[in-house]
Amino acid sequence: MTTEPTKPWKILFVCLGNICRSPAAEGIMKKYVEAEGLSDRIWVDSAGTCNYHTGQLADPRMLKAAHRRGYDLTSRARTITNRDLRDFHLIVAMDSENFRQVHLLTSDAASHVKLLSDFLNEDWPKNVPDPYYGGDEGFDFVIDMIEQACPKILDTYRKA
Ligand code: 4NP
Repeated sequence: MTTEPTKPWKILFVCLGNICRSPAAEGIMKKYVEAEGLSDRIWVDSAGTCNYHTGQLADPRMLKAAHRRGYDLTSRARTITNRDLRDFHLIVAMDSENFRQVHLLTSDAASHVKLLSDFLNEDWPKNVPDPYYGGDEGFDFVIDMIEQACPKILDTYRKA
């Protein structure tokens, strides 16, 4: 008798362009998932709410900041679809505007859509600041926030 492989639990990170915050979250979370030996149980992806950068690698400033911290970002930008809302078990928006845009894609209840800051204590801002128009320190701060949130997101998986 053969047993069906267990379907992976799927996490989608969402920002505006899918070239700064959410590809960083994808790459960082993949490393945490790997370190916990969960790569065959958890699938991680990212998407943007706009299509300006479709097909592009992460912004070179984010690639560099992530590389300095030991993360390789390999994803290419894509736009979130209505289907993603059905396919993913957890959708994590980087800020409240992305959160709002994700909800506009569906008329169904979307209780599986969260803000990254839902996984952080109140010392952190509600929104992951958009680093696109700022300096290098903004990219490091995005990584700081994501690194803090990843273990808490994995706790959510373990309780699911
Ligand atoms: P992200 O950052 O949403 O974290 O990928 C941005 C990327 C591109 C733009 C804005 C924010 N843009 O205006 O093109």
